[in-house]
Amino acid sequence: MAVTVRAGQIDRLRAERMAGSAALHARARNVFPDGVTHDGRYMEPFALYCTHAQGPRKWDVDGNEFVDYFGGHGALLLGHSHPAIVEALARQAARGTHLGASHEAEVRWGELVQEIVPSARGGLVKFTSSGTEATMLVLRLARAFTGKETVCKANGAFHGWHDYATMAMVPPYDEPNSAGIPRGVRESIVSVPPREVAALRALLDSRDDIAAVIVIADGAGTDYLQAVRNLTSERGVLLIFDEVVTGFRYAPGGAQEYYGVTPDLTTLAKILAGGLNGGAIVGRAEILGRFLQSEDESWARHERVPHPGTYNGNPLSAVAGIACLEIARDPATQERATAAANGLRAGFAEALARRGVAGKVGGPVSLAPVSFTEPKIPGRKLLHRFRAAMQLGGADPSGFNFIVSATHGQAEIDQTVEAFDNALVMLQEEGSL
Ligand SMILES: Cc1ncc(COP(=O)(O)O)c(C=O)c1O
Repeated sequence: MAVTVRAGQIDRLRAERMAGSAALHARARNVFPDGVTHDGRYMEPFALYCTHAQGPRKWDVDGNEFVDYFGGHGALLLGHSHPAIVEALARQAARGTHLGASHEAEVRWGELVQEIVPSARGGLVKFTSSGTEATMLVLRLARAFTGKETVCKANGAFHGWHDYATMAMVPPYDEPNSAGIPRGVRESIVSVPPREVAALRALLDSRDDIAAVIVIADGAGTDYLQAVRNLTSERGVLLIFDEVVTGFRYAPGGAQEYYGVTPDLTTLAKILAGGLNGGAIVGRAEILGRFLQSEDESWARHERVPHPGTYNGNPLSAVAGIACLEIARDPATQERATAAANGLRAGFAEALARRGVAGKVGGPVSLAPVSFTEPKIPGRKLLHRFRAAMQLGGADPSGFNFIVSATHGQAEIDQTVEAFDNALVMLQEEGSL
């Protein structure tokens, strides 16, 4: 797709080139609220409808080609339709998609996680169907194990969409970011500013009802994470890393390997299942022992955490996960993705300077989020304008984030940097930046 478009014409050009997406979104509005199945896929004035994808690229219903940076919401470290995953899925689909029984693939999948993720070594694994299920269950497990009710999270940290995860997302942090959350849930989550050791220490010293601290270790740095590790260990509070995004991306063993700090429990999803649905809790065997069945009625009734779930360890997710992790365990995979992201960072920084736009591109490893520090329109609106402008240049970011895979190469980087430069011009001329 040509990247030379005149500024101020984003909506007109999108309407011309993406008429099929516009028509499908109009139809979808009669089916789904807002016409979408995930809040993050919503776009104004219409969402993007794709037909297929391969490696770092995807195609929409109008035949437009995009370099993809949505990356399956972060699941596709190996790009779209990696041959090893496609082969494993095709084979398993013909052999049964749900066996209603335990199977070898789930065992191998779990063993791989134990081999790769530091906090799983010598510990146990529990598969769920999504990252949200994993974080919901890990909080319950932490409460059950410690006998304490309250969990501490960081202000603004996203852990999915269950009731507890709605807390401390946006100010005021002691209120949920969703309607429909019961009062008991509100009272069982406390929060602190991210990356502030003193605030966490003060909180932990002021209360004795904290079961766990849950942390997203993205860009956190070893010093901060080690301080949190020490604070929690000293006080008998569990430390949970939510590695739904960082797992297998920062390093084969995730952010805990990258920063060299090991939590008691870890939540995983996304790359874990190679682009299919799946999540996991991993950690100390003693803690995951709360899932054990027993004839002891008192244990079963009062100590144990039950865990059914139709799709736990699903054969398709298991074989895709095995194929993915066998490749992602080689650090060369993460290094390729990071090198491509570094190319974006350099090119974007040059474009921001050239166009005189206040902003920066950050993130370690293969996540390259862009932030505009002096936008002229509200952030949510700018997000749609930015994504729309980038699409006209043949690149599709995940909002302001560029999630890079090991299949992105120089051709993709060059095209994306040019699209970014053009997007800045268009957004400046229409008065968004
Ligand atoms: C850090 C983190 N935790 C949990 C989740 C929820 O995972 P899922 O979308 O699989 O429910 C997400 C989703 O993006 C996430 O970024």
